[in-house]
Amino acid sequence: MFFSILLAALAAGIAQASVGAPTPEYHTLPPLREQAKIRDGWTRERLAGIPNLLQKHSVDAWLVSQKEYAEDTAFWSLKSAEQFSARRRTTTLFLANSSTSKDSYTWVDISQNLWDELRDVLDTENPNTIAVNTHPQIAFSSGLHAGELDAVKEGLGKEWTARLVSKPMVAVEYIATMPASRAEWYHRLQSTAWAVISEAFSERVIQPGVTTTKDVEWWMRDKLQQLNYTTWFHPDVTIIDAAAWNFSVETSSLAGPSVLDSSDNGPVISHGDMLHVDFGVTAMGLNTDTQHLAYVLGPGETEADIPQGLIDGLRKGNRAQDIVKSHMEVGKTGNEILKASLKQMKSEGIEGRVYCHPIGDWGHSAGTLIGMTNLQDGVPVLGDLPLLSNTYYSIELLVRHFVPERNATLSFPLEEDITWDFDQSANSASLWKWAFGRQERFHMIRSRTSAHSRTGEKKHIAGTFEDL
Ligand SMILES: *[C@@H]1O[C@H](CO)[C@@H](O)[C@H](O)[C@H]1NC(C)=O
Ligand SMILES: *[C@@H]1O[C@H](CO)[C@@H](O)[C@H](O)[C@H]1NC(C)=O
Ligand SMILES: *[C@@H]1O[C@H](CO)[C@@H](O)[C@H](O)[C@H]1NC(C)=O
Ligand SMILES: *[C@@H]1O[C@H](CO)[C@@H](O)[C@H](O)[C@H]1NC(C)=O
Repeated sequence: MFFSILLAALAAGIAQASVGAPTPEYHTLPPLREQAKIRDGWTRERLAGIPNLLQKHSVDAWLVSQKEYAEDTAFWSLKSAEQFSARRRTTTLFLANSSTSKDSYTWVDISQNLWDELRDVLDTENPNTIAVNTHPQIAFSSGLHAGELDAVKEGLGKEWTARLVSKPMVAVEYIATMPASRAEWYHRLQSTAWAVISEAFSERVIQPGVTTTKDVEWWMRDKLQQLNYTTWFHPDVTIIDAAAWNFSVETSSLAGPSVLDSSDNGPVISHGDMLHVDFGVTAMGLNTDTQHLAYVLGPGETEADIPQGLIDGLRKGNRAQDIVKSHMEVGKTGNEILKASLKQMKSEGIEGRVYCHPIGDWGHSAGTLIGMTNLQDGVPVLGDLPLLSNTYYSIELLVRHFVPERNATLSFPLEEDITWDFDQSANSASLWKWAFGRQERFHMIRSRTSAHSRTGEKKHIAGTFEDL
């Protein structure tokens, strides 16, 4: 594509991990001015859909009001690329059925004048219901600050205040729904995420016996900085042993390392380790979320030396991903999808946990949740929302598998992003597709000495990486 420059193809050996997917490539970002143009194009498409969205949810108007630095969560999905915050009081009224060609009004004003003019518009349009983002449980529908709600009520007066309603799906659907034109960039960001993981999980970054898990995490952070990308969470690299990712139902969250202990270097990576990474990128107003596995080969070893028990665990994880994806029917609730998925997993003898989330404007974005790590019987409120079309999801789960070579049951945590298949016919069997691909083989860290003797092609491509 015009603005994407292929910087590097990955070494053939590394690319083997991506069977079932194209070879991951680093994609550079266009100049900021071009990024703004692209992003504003997406936002314009989304804004144009608001009247229909309001009609779908049977509400006549939507009022989003905020002050500088106390923005509504929805603001970040409504703003233009050149806006870095709200200014003064920034108030927008969207209309389902405008009597004029204007279907929204925005004021940036801190005086009484704003309310007078807003009431004039309300007098003309006479909406019976005005949605405001005041839901107590759903972040994306609760962005109206408490003090701002007081100001709105005072500004509107009793008559209009009586018409305020909470319609949480308006903000959820607005933030969750992705224009088709965005999918191509999402694919590129996902390709970049895979490329970073593929390089991090290779002998180019990891020297067994020397490199620690924290070294790999910080290498990934620095790589993102070089690419002019950022992220929405610090990468997490772990060595999977019997204790890793083994949590009971009672735990409310996974125990993580102490975030304030920057002197903790993490364990040293050794031959024979199975590695796991949780990694996401942020760029162009989009976020990704990926979890992959790698195996550290001993000197002279090849893919054929990866213990079969580990390969079977990954395969079982892939099967669980397919099961969850197959149950993701639009209109079903996340809790229904969770229940059906776990039931089928159980019937196929797969022990595991499912905790999928929407992704896009936010890493954990708006929409229904399909489980949480500790909530396998359903997620209150968020799990009861319906699954929406035209959205992106992270298929995030783990399976437990007994690995004879380790004489232990290990967790295989995996995560891969999917997007709505915008090209599908109405009765297409598959509604979703992998945003980039799905890991079906281990990334491999070879011993450096054997890698050098492998092929000239590899050296050539490695050189391309160094040009970064
Ligand atoms: C908007 O107008 C259309 C056509 O007049 C009507 O069918 C629809 O119910 C209206 N929607 C709302 C939210 O008022
Ligand atoms: C990152 O941005 C800088 C400054 O605009 C630019 O010189 C550099 O080429 C960019 N790097 C990549 C990999 O896009
Ligand atoms: C894994 O968790 C189970 C249940 O909490 C516990 O019984 C078991 O000892 C744990 N295994 C390891 C190796 O920590
Ligand atoms: C495998 O582990 C079990 C208990 O965790 C132990 O009783 C058994 O002796 C182990 N087997 C081998 C071959 O080490």
